[in-house]
Amino acid sequence: MFPLERPRRLRRTAALRRLVAETCLQPDDLIAPFFVAEGVSEPRAITSLPGHFQHTVASLVDAAAAAHRAGVGGILLFGVPDAKDETGSGAFNPDGIAQVALRALRDRFGDDLVIMADLCLDEYTTHGHCGVLRSDGSIDNDATIELYARAAVAQADAGAAVVAPSGMMDGQVGAIRAGLDAAGHEDTVILAYAAKYASGLYGPFRDAVGVEIADGGDRRGYQQDYRNRRESWREARADVEQGADIIMVKPAMTYLDVLSDLRHELDVPLCAYHVSGEYAMVKAAAANGWIDGEAVALEQLTAVRRAGADFVLTYFATEIAEVLQG
Ligand code: PBG
Repeated sequence: MFPLERPRRLRRTAALRRLVAETCLQPDDLIAPFFVAEGVSEPRAITSLPGHFQHTVASLVDAAAAAHRAGVGGILLFGVPDAKDETGSGAFNPDGIAQVALRALRDRFGDDLVIMADLCLDEYTTHGHCGVLRSDGSIDNDATIELYARAAVAQADAGAAVVAPSGMMDGQVGAIRAGLDAAGHEDTVILAYAAKYASGLYGPFRDAVGVEIADGGDRRGYQQDYRNRRESWREARADVEQGADIIMVKPAMTYLDVLSDLRHELDVPLCAYHVSGEYAMVKAAAANGWIDGEAVALEQLTAVRRAGADFVLTYFATEIAEVLQG
């Protein structure tokens, strides 16, 4: 007769549990997303993302400094322009709001804080799509990736250490790598949103950046179908082959299987985006007293690490980094 299995032995005290814990979550595992808006004189609260703002350049630098003090691993910037056009030119204009803000961040933090820029057109286009459109309304993939390459160069020129293409166009990573290298930005890192699903969880983000997709449209022609798992391996492998340095899965909680797969498939760093809707759900339930928001945030972010992510892009970053710092 074998002795009875007694796994509970290792759970008896907090010290034993700490000793045998398989996964840890630290402030530098968290990346903080921020929004900076053009032409605003005061930061504007984003109702569906409690605690987050459309920042002025000055309030952005202060918020980034607070995140830095809390020990986060990096910050990622989204620009909110005051005027949009068909091609989203604010994304690649050197004077676009994101580029202006990147220069201010770079002046303040240099290389002490990893400064990342989301790279897409949707915040800047009148129609709200992530690419440019042909006259029949379809997305022109190859014209779009040329503009992404220009945006990457503008962001790197302005001081982004990392560019993060999120548009899910084919060939985007290769086009961006070539553009950066040709402009002398061989050291600029590409964090590729490789497995990005067409999700119902992006609602608060679209409030935050003022994006509405024209004619009741959606992004299912370029973002992935949530019924698919294997497809993510193909997307991620293609991005690594084209030169992606870091791979991202988005959203997080509903795609832990994908994270786990990619952890085993790839040897590059892996990141997950715990998106706006995931944050908003926790905040809303906590505000109603239905859950302990901090406990659930810690559980979710740790689960994302357990599934295979090296770090997590999350609206909880500063708040939870402060908790972890004690
Ligand atoms: C698109 C983009 C989106 C998000 C990040 N980049 C929205 C979308 O794909 O519609 C969503 C992030 C979030 O919900 O927190 N450039």
